[in-house]
Amino acid sequence: MSNFETYLTSRMTGDDSHTLAAYKKNGGYATLERALKEMQPADVTEAVKASGLRGRGGAGFPTGLKWTFMPDPAKDPRKRYLAINADESEPGTCKDRVIMDEDPHGLLEGILLACYAMKCEASYIYVRGEYRHQYDRTAAAIVEAREAGLIGKNILGSGFDCEIHMHKGAGAYICGEETGMMESLEGKRGHPRPKPPFPAGFGLWGQPTTVNNVETIFNVPFIVDKGAEWYRTMGSESSPGNFLVGISGNVNKPGVYEAPLGTNAKELLEADHFAGGVPEGRKLKAWFTGGSSTGMMSADTIDVAMDHDSVKAAGTMLGTAAMIILDDSQCVVRAMQIIARFYDHESCGQCSQCREGCQWLHQIFKRIEDGQGRDGDIDLLTSIGNGMAPGKTICALADAAAIPAHMMVKHFRAELEEHIRDGGCKINKTGKYAPQSAPEPAEAQA
Ligand SMILES: Cc1cc2nc3c(=O)[nH]c(=O)nc-3n(C[C@H](O)[C@H](O)[C@H](O)COP(=O)(O)O)c2cc1C
Ligand code: SF4
Repeated sequence: MSNFETYLTSRMTGDDSHTLAAYKKNGGYATLERALKEMQPADVTEAVKASGLRGRGGAGFPTGLKWTFMPDPAKDPRKRYLAINADESEPGTCKDRVIMDEDPHGLLEGILLACYAMKCEASYIYVRGEYRHQYDRTAAAIVEAREAGLIGKNILGSGFDCEIHMHKGAGAYICGEETGMMESLEGKRGHPRPKPPFPAGFGLWGQPTTVNNVETIFNVPFIVDKGAEWYRTMGSESSPGNFLVGISGNVNKPGVYEAPLGTNAKELLEADHFAGGVPEGRKLKAWFTGGSSTGMMSADTIDVAMDHDSVKAAGTMLGTAAMIILDDSQCVVRAMQIIARFYDHESCGQCSQCREGCQWLHQIFKRIEDGQGRDGDIDLLTSIGNGMAPGKTICALADAAAIPAHMMVKHFRAELEEHIRDGGCKINKTGKYAPQSAPEPAEAQA
């Protein structure tokens, strides 16, 4: 599919695409102005609902429906907030950074439209701490928009008031989980909250709050401008619109690409206008559909449409649509050990299943890779994973850690067995890539 309409990346050209001047030259904020004049807040929600837009933060929840969970302001006079999730810490995921870098005003216009629709008086953008450049670009855009009367009191003379604030995270994956993020925004340790209550009933400072991902909200001005019918001409029936796919690992052209949802993963990997294939004539060995938490799939599953239903039917999730590609020179056990180490490090420790489970998964994958795997380790991995997820803990980090372990056993059992039988990793024993398993961070620093 080389001929398709692009819109998400349409303004990301030139060195000044992040400025208000460039954004306005491309018709920026005209949709907000029109909506404030001609549309009721409920009309905006209705347009988003009719478009079928699904959240791009990982779970694919219908955005318009989520907005309707906010209580009726006539019955519930509390303040209302929109929290924008720009934590983007899922390994492999790097699409929101492109939006904040190249088109921050598009994000701000989406936020203002969403706040108008849900009658929120303020929005908080929670940006991962490592994204300094993206933070600065977005903060500068907020200053420009405020000076132009687009943020603050009586926006464009419409009587609509809305503030936008930014907050820097401090490098914790768990602060991307929506309730961990709200705790962190409130100045507390980023420990996820038990649910219910859900954010729409009890969110930031106990007020009704909607949490949306950057890319989700970035879609909103396009939908309000061009309509739900136009939006549904792209993508698939249950996953309409285009998405930003991050493709990394062993590919010729790693990067973030725009494509209609439902584009075949094989095409995204191989086509010249996308990642351009696996380099140096090597073969695909394993791939992730949407960040590390979706788990590794074997090469024979690559011929799948990248939309929520098709990927689910293939046994995994679309997640953040961050494809990570491993070629046949890589050891999947080593890759899995690194992922398990990440979740072990990032578990907040509130739930014993997650705290202990993540630690044990890491330890077992490490010993298998290091040649100290034991008979029964594979069953043990499955049993630990079963004890962690799904739905047994306060948040889904435990699922995010258990799913890759299950996928590893399902798709690469033979490699695990071989490592246990042969006393370690053949690839890494050659010394070509690493003499042993990936060093622990402390070892690496020493
Ligand atoms: C451990 C964990 C980490 C998460 N990290 C992110 C993240 O970095 N960015 C994000 O948008 N959503 C993340 N999510 C999902 C959010 O909790 C939430 O579902 C999402 O921000 C909702 O936005 P959406 O409906 O627009 O997709 C994470 C979830 C979990 C369980
Ligand atoms: S599942 Fe893990 S990360 Fe989530 S609250 Fe429990 S211990 Fe913390």
